[in-house]
Amino acid sequence: MNCLEVEVAGLKFRNPVLLAAGILGMTAESLIRVAEAGAGGLVTKSIGLKPRKGFPNPTVVQVSCGLINAMGLPNPGIKTFSEEIREVKRKVKVPLIVSVYGYSAEEFAETAKLAVKAGADAVELNVSCPHVEGTGEEIGQNPELLKEVVSKVKRRISKPIFVKLSANVTDIAQLAEIAVKAGADAITAINTVRAMKIDIKTGRPILANRIGGLSGPAIKPIAVRCVYEIYERVRVPIFGCGGILNWRDAIELILAGASAVQIGTAIAVKDLEVFRTIPKGIEKYIRRKGFGSVKEIVGLSHRL
Ligand code: FUM
Repeated sequence: MNCLEVEVAGLKFRNPVLLAAGILGMTAESLIRVAEAGAGGLVTKSIGLKPRKGFPNPTVVQVSCGLINAMGLPNPGIKTFSEEIREVKRKVKVPLIVSVYGYSAEEFAETAKLAVKAGADAVELNVSCPHVEGTGEEIGQNPELLKEVVSKVKRRISKPIFVKLSANVTDIAQLAEIAVKAGADAITAINTVRAMKIDIKTGRPILANRIGGLSGPAIKPIAVRCVYEIYERVRVPIFGCGGILNWRDAIELILAGASAVQIGTAIAVKDLEVFRTIPKGIEKYIRRKGFGSVKEIVGLSHRL
């Protein structure tokens, strides 16, 4: 029996370790490589209705506790990206989740509809990008807009909707509750945390956009707290995301309430190897602790 298999919103994942939106998710070729490396599921880079160039360089800077990025949502637009979706679906069996963003509920809904038409098994609504004006966390931090976006997408598509939330808020669990009432089938927590780095020689902010989103080990305790709080408030599954570098980090998020986890920055640090070592470490932990399946430890911290 595969003790790592999990089901989220009707989708079966061979293991609970997925690719997060943002890294290696822009081409079919890289997504297929991630699946072949062992990922339980794939989330694409965020895709919009129209092509977008993104911000000028520098878009990423390393800091002692992770990475700060402000790519500016570069993407080819859903029409062009549909061919990548079809190619992934032809070549690999793991669930493909297309991350979508928009500047209005209508744009989110139309992009989601086209992603599903091309073969997406689910969509993840990016209402949490911390540095692009008019979208991302500007939507996810606003209860009315969040409700409007999620409910409009819900009316337009019949596939599961995951909503990726930002930790840059006072009460993330309240926003999760709003998203679920509007139709979210699962919540992803968290996106990057607003941050910046200044070059002390020149005195200038390093990123062209000045402010970006921090990912990596520094945000893992924030992700654990957010997943824990969301788990107490909603009854839909949660994808834990933020700073997971190894199987211990993944277990921590699962104990907090995540049914599965998503990996991003760890790929830049450790390569695709993480999609083999993290599931293996989770499996060993489950067996050593005497559990039959990863499902038994989801949210276990709340029951102890
Ligand atoms: O800049 C970016 O493309 C990042 C997107 C995000 O953090 O959601």
